[in-house]
Amino acid sequence: MTPSADNAQWRNPLRDKDDKRLPRIAEPCAMVLFGVTGDLAHKKVVPAVYDLANRGLLPPTFSLVGFGRRDWDHDAFAQVIHDDVKQYCRTPFRQAIWERLAEGLRFVSGAFDDDKAFVRLAETLDKLDVERGIGGNHAFYLAIPPKSFPVVCEQLHSSGLARPQEDRWSRVVIEKPFGHDLKSACDLNHVVNSVFPEESVFRIDHYLGKETVQNILALRFANQLWDPIWNAHYVDHVQITMAEDIGLGGRAGYYDGIGAARDVIQNHLMQLLALTAMEEPVSFNAQALQAEKIKVLSATQLAQPIDETTSRGQYAAGWQGGQQVVGLLDEDGFSKDSTTETFAAITLEVDTRRWAGVPFYLRTGKRLGRRVTEIALVFKRAPHLPFDATMTDELGANALVIRVQPDEGITLRFGSKVPGAMEVRDVNMDFSYGSAFAEDSPEAYERLILDVLLGEPSLFPVNEEVELAWQILDPVLDHWESNGKPDPYESGTWGPASADEMLRRTGREWRRP
Ligand SMILES: NC(=O)c1ccc[n+]([C@@H]2O[C@H](COP(=O)([O-])OP(=O)(O)OC[C@H]3O[C@@H](n4cnc5c(N)ncnc54)[C@H](OP(=O)(O)O)[C@@H]3O)[C@@H](O)[C@H]2O)c1
Repeated sequence: MTPSADNAQWRNPLRDKDDKRLPRIAEPCAMVLFGVTGDLAHKKVVPAVYDLANRGLLPPTFSLVGFGRRDWDHDAFAQVIHDDVKQYCRTPFRQAIWERLAEGLRFVSGAFDDDKAFVRLAETLDKLDVERGIGGNHAFYLAIPPKSFPVVCEQLHSSGLARPQEDRWSRVVIEKPFGHDLKSACDLNHVVNSVFPEESVFRIDHYLGKETVQNILALRFANQLWDPIWNAHYVDHVQITMAEDIGLGGRAGYYDGIGAARDVIQNHLMQLLALTAMEEPVSFNAQALQAEKIKVLSATQLAQPIDETTSRGQYAAGWQGGQQVVGLLDEDGFSKDSTTETFAAITLEVDTRRWAGVPFYLRTGKRLGRRVTEIALVFKRAPHLPFDATMTDELGANALVIRVQPDEGITLRFGSKVPGAMEVRDVNMDFSYGSAFAEDSPEAYERLILDVLLGEPSLFPVNEEVELAWQILDPVLDHWESNGKPDPYESGTWGPASADEMLRRTGREWRRP
């Protein structure tokens, strides 16, 4: 098949572009992967590309161009990609799919400050256009250290690659962290937006690619059941948790000086808060969704005083999964006096009619009790209980818990009578993705890479969201920087005592998922 005949079926005007149930297939294009030798490329990006191809969601002439500081010929590069796919792909390895993908592989050798390498990159893309009919459509995926974003954007600008021809597109994909405070985030947005218009910038917060996170919108806005109680009249408080059981061995280069609040709260947890607290968008297009997220983030602020409404910790030695583990200060690469926090908890207030008076508690940490991400709406107690006090001793607050990972699903907790006894205790009603649907959920990176190639921006935070999130968090970071050290907590527990105290002051307690 010639490239143009091969691509023709993907331009079929009879496909109903508005039917969201139909598989969406990218049009002919190439993706240039900067940082192709890095961890993210190996483990996430390359396998996701293969899985998309395997699911029939890439055009047959899709081309992947690696850019890196290696002296690889085509075969050496293809071997690296092959090994990544074999090791990390989610879907079964199929030789025919691999061979088709391999036909579109190209490698350009060079460093980011090498002008000539970008000339070679432009020539490679021009050639691909002729040989494979990729239509002059290019996505530039920056799987690289954040400090290199400016130089690569500028190189793409001066080599002409950032400016597409008419009816073609050039998009740039950047990975978190989007800056390390409000000022650096604004500077970064300025550099990126001076080269790419905002609609061509795709910032990856991979949490937004998770099915369960997208299901927050379905749960809230496709059902009649929840909206009447999704507000300050019924909700006592909201807890948003991302807990990890792993430590930071081998990740000092990235993590030291960054810490849990910058790494997780500024992006993933603020986005989960926005989806949980926002009003119904007028439609599900990207602009309408972003407008609602921006409104809710604009209405969000830190509860005061910061000393009492936040907590930070650093893991000490302890036991995890039956094994003895070292504390952060004994992990390779961390200095003995590192003040990087591995646990962070903050209290936010959303000043809207829906949420006035409802605290949103956000917490994240490493080496906690278990790996879990969830959003829990904890409801107020019934105003009156017509039982003897002893009958409801064991009754907790009603809760709706959205389990983002692992064991994705939704739990509703409420009181039920114990059989044969006059006692009311908590029980759980569970919906589990795994048992309700036969299909496996795609990886977040599959969904997000496909959306980049389709030009579908709904799941990517825009510059204003990123800046608002920093604006909320900056005062905590400043406060922590000038006020002592994080509180130590034993590995395998649920964080420092100051976190428990933070909730106890308001008469509440953390969930132990
Ligand atoms: N890893 C993850 O799971 C993860 C998750 C979320 C976000 N991120 C973000 O994704 C980005 C990449 O992370 P990573 O973990 O993959 O980093 P990494 O393993 O350190 O990889 C960095 C890549 O950039 C390349 N590079 C650096 N400087 C270069 C230069 N001057 N010229 C050419 N290539 C250069 C490196 O090439 P060499 O091999 O030649 O050094 C390597 O391929 C970062 O922004 C990170 O914050 C990563």
